[in-house]
Amino acid sequence: MKFFIDTADLNEIKEAASLGILDGVTTNPSLMAKIGITGAENIKQHYIDICNIVDGDISAEVISTDFEGMVREAKELVALHPNIVVKIPMIKDGVKALKWCTDNNIRTNCTLVFSAGQAILAAKAGATYLSPFIGRLDDINWDGVQLIEQIVHIYRNYGYETQVLAASIRNPLHIIRCAEVGADVVTCPLSSIMGLFKHPLTDIGLAQFLADYKKGNG
Ligand code: E4P
Repeated sequence: MKFFIDTADLNEIKEAASLGILDGVTTNPSLMAKIGITGAENIKQHYIDICNIVDGDISAEVISTDFEGMVREAKELVALHPNIVVKIPMIKDGVKALKWCTDNNIRTNCTLVFSAGQAILAAKAGATYLSPFIGRLDDINWDGVQLIEQIVHIYRNYGYETQVLAASIRNPLHIIRCAEVGADVVTCPLSSIMGLFKHPLTDIGLAQFLADYKKGNG
């Protein structure tokens, strides 16, 4: 399972990259706004800065909602760096844009996915990645991980190559449950990745080992 970090914050990206287990980065317009990156040129430069930190797939999201606008943005975004993956929303023109990108060798991440039907459409259009938002589903009392399991099952039935990228991860348990049901990728806030380290018996065991070493070696 690939690990992406879900942030536009360069310090968080550097911290996750330093662990040596990071495979890519996802961003969205809200994450850019959260750290005060505004204006088309600044946003593009920020994508380049991210690409210079992480040697992996970096999702950059279009803001157009019409086919022509999405295709124009896709061309501009992929020209920034070879690792850019164009993030396209799951709407009617978005599916058309996904297909255009597939036909023109541009890699894509279909975002804002909340159902298996949407997942089938994106796979038919040849999306590279599919981003079901599991946390937002949990927020409205639906089971987000169950959707991941359903989509993985459908994609395996037909050998679709679209990779299931579980997004809107809220905690370490989401990551583990996504791994259990066969997600290809998880994109996580840094806090959820760091949460995977935690176990009280590890801390107690390490403290004991170090204390015993000190007793014997001064
Ligand atoms: C990433 O691709 C998504 O945009 C992101 O995971 C959404 O997360 P949120 O539901 O926490 O905003």
